[in-house]
Amino acid sequence: MSQNQFDKKSQAWSALFSEPMSDLVKRYTSSVFFDKRLWQADITGSLAHAEMLAAQGIISAEDHASIQKGMAQIWGEIESGAFEWKLDLEDVHLNIEARLTQLVGDAGKRLHTGRSRNDQVATDVRLWLRSEIDLIGELLVDLQKSLVDVAEANAEVILPGFTHLQVAQPVSFGHHMLAYVEMFSRDAERFSEVRRRTNRLPLGSAALAGTSYPLDRERVAKTLAMDGVCQNSLDAVSDRDFAIEFTSAATLTMVHISRMSEELIIWMSQNFSFIKIADRFTTGSSIMPQKKNPDVPELARGKTGRVVGHLMGLITLMKGQPLAYNKDNQEDKEPLFDTVDTLKDTLRIFSEMIGGQVNAATGQKEGGISVNAEAMERAALKGYATATDLADYLVKKGLPFRDAHETVAHAVKAAQTHACDLSELPLTVLQGFHASIEKDVYECLSLRGSLNARNILGGTAPAQVRAQIARHRTRLA
Ligand code: ARG
Repeated sequence: MSQNQFDKKSQAWSALFSEPMSDLVKRYTSSVFFDKRLWQADITGSLAHAEMLAAQGIISAEDHASIQKGMAQIWGEIESGAFEWKLDLEDVHLNIEARLTQLVGDAGKRLHTGRSRNDQVATDVRLWLRSEIDLIGELLVDLQKSLVDVAEANAEVILPGFTHLQVAQPVSFGHHMLAYVEMFSRDAERFSEVRRRTNRLPLGSAALAGTSYPLDRERVAKTLAMDGVCQNSLDAVSDRDFAIEFTSAATLTMVHISRMSEELIIWMSQNFSFIKIADRFTTGSSIMPQKKNPDVPELARGKTGRVVGHLMGLITLMKGQPLAYNKDNQEDKEPLFDTVDTLKDTLRIFSEMIGGQVNAATGQKEGGISVNAEAMERAALKGYATATDLADYLVKKGLPFRDAHETVAHAVKAAQTHACDLSELPLTVLQGFHASIEKDVYECLSLRGSLNARNILGGTAPAQVRAQIARHRTRLA
């Protein structure tokens, strides 16, 4: 490699180096083609730092004004696509700083006073992630609202509730939807907790030990609307636990999405036919003309694996690192970015797939999942879903629960032999199992009777489902 390929001016630390980097090593070590998406956070962080440097008398008011002017131009250049990103300049930070210096001269070179890329990158990632967490919070609200809409429309619809994928007890389809609302509301809580710990300021930690300049870190934190200042410089530049925590919260959200996807896929299959999703979320087969495949839920289930992988990647990235900053940490970005992208797309698509989209003409949402209430009810009738209700009936007549359980097992066996439901056994036959059984037994043997009987906080009675819907509506307003 010839000496003129070694452009000293393009490298922030080049005076010490006696040989150029090969193109391969440059490509290997540079991050600009993925970390350039941090540009807004990088400029915002730099402006807050410069403002404080000027307030502290570390740089002049003129230099501060030049930095502001230069950064405003760079902002415009990046936004319009005119900015020329250079691989030689390694990362987003050096690219922006080099352009600033090109535009405003020495003032640009003074910006990095009391700062290192180590505290700079940690700040940028935190600022960027904070705003992504806010967007994710909004998307989680949208998804919950979609689910609450479906719950409200289907509070009375009877679904066979399963345990072990065997018919267990009838539940309201609305109740089932609200189970997911609970999961996503906990996810939202987790993200807001992660936000609190993410939203702390590393700047002022410099490379690892802090700085000898009289920086006002609290002032920078305030300018950046951060909740506090990182209290140990070594920790501030090196730990990426906030990124791991975030990815862990994202993983749990994707796991919830994946469980829902699995149910949608099962419910859509011909053997169930409980629901349909709009055609735009399905695809056909290139060979079997009759097929409509649930590609979107399947992909979401698959993408969950991808996010789980990012979590493992980030944890593994961290585990062997000595204090303080190591270049390993540059590898935090792609998994983090991909986690955010995957999660946001998934949440958007699920809100629409479940709840539909607003028709501009009517203002109403349409095109969400459609529910086949008859198919659900037919399936619930197949599996002796009210057997527990019969046992409870006998307990009310004075039998100990275990004896009632045994008695009902005999009744189920008889019904199986006659290939009928418990509610179809004649009263005389039922009385053969226990003399205390009277005509009113048929109320508790009906699916609706079973549903209404579970009128307890957290239970599936439609009255409870409606109370929960009201609570969620207030919470999500
Ligand atoms: N691109 C680097 C990263 O993503 C920035 C910090 C580099 N610092 C250093 N001393 N090499 O982590």
